[in-house]
Amino acid sequence: MTGEIPTAPLTGGGTIPLLGLGTWQLTGAPCYDAVRTALELGYRHLDTATMYRNEAEVGRALRDSGVPRNEVFVTTKLLPGSADRPDATLDASLRALGLDAVDLWLVHWPPGGPGVDLWRRLVAARDDGRARHVGVSNYSLEQLDVLTEDAGVTPAVNQIRWAPSLYDAAVEDGHRERGVVLEGYSPFTSTDLGSPVLREIAGRHGVRPAQVVLRWHLEHGVVVIPKSADPGRLAENLDVTGFPVDADEVARIDRLAAA
Ligand SMILES: NC(=O)c1ccc[n+]([C@@H]2O[C@H](COP(=O)([O-])OP(=O)(O)OC[C@H]3O[C@@H](n4cnc5c(N)ncnc54)[C@H](OP(=O)(O)O)[C@@H]3O)[C@@H](O)[C@H]2O)c1
Repeated sequence: MTGEIPTAPLTGGGTIPLLGLGTWQLTGAPCYDAVRTALELGYRHLDTATMYRNEAEVGRALRDSGVPRNEVFVTTKLLPGSADRPDATLDASLRALGLDAVDLWLVHWPPGGPGVDLWRRLVAARDDGRARHVGVSNYSLEQLDVLTEDAGVTPAVNQIRWAPSLYDAAVEDGHRERGVVLEGYSPFTSTDLGSPVLREIAGRHGVRPAQVVLRWHLEHGVVVIPKSADPGRLAENLDVTGFPVDADEVARIDRLAAA
């Protein structure tokens, strides 16, 4: 049974659901259908980006779903190539999405260096209400520190590639110590779902290895945004809280990074 998805607190107030729908490589009708299905199933967090060219479909599916806007956490991202015109880019994203504000606006990846000037523009967009929270993606801990030191504002979130095979306690702790929510992307494409450890744990709980991978993120308090265009897998990926996972199982999955 699909239970309540936990949330993580964000600096400045509010929370982010620990599980959302990734939408990279979903465009047109398949994107609209996947987002509609996800919202019907109970997803309340959508991850898009200017680069994905699907903000209009994501926004239309959200509106048509009838789910109240304030119940869904919407993230979009700015291409570093638009670093010279971030405000126009955000306005274009908001128009495409049909929203007054996004919940989270991210720099998709560092624009060469950490991009302190660009980061100040994101903070200004937060302050004028067009983005409730601002953050970054694909940043190192050192680059996060440059933004904090030079602009005086720490990103609320850093979205990075994350999976059992990439587990790094120092990176996880580094985000926690800085008050930055770690959001993982590509949980499956970075994982061997046939791994004996994942299969054994999944078998014990009567679930699939993919569900164990998502649950492992939740146990660590890491946000995860799996993408699926398939209604069955969309349902499976949300159904990750109804089975017990103990600390020993989490530790065994952590150790897949060293395998
Ligand atoms: N910030 C960044 O630079 C960045 C980079 C990459 C991704 N992202 C974000 O992260 C999201 C997720 O990452 P991703 O799209 O790279 O890959 P992913 O979510 O790790 O994997 C998606 C693939 O796994 C399949 N899949 C989905 N559920 C499954 C399940 N239960 N069992 C087995 N296979 C399953 C999907 O196929 P079906 O669709 O056929 O189910 C698809 O082929 C993206 O959509 C995007 O929103 C961000």
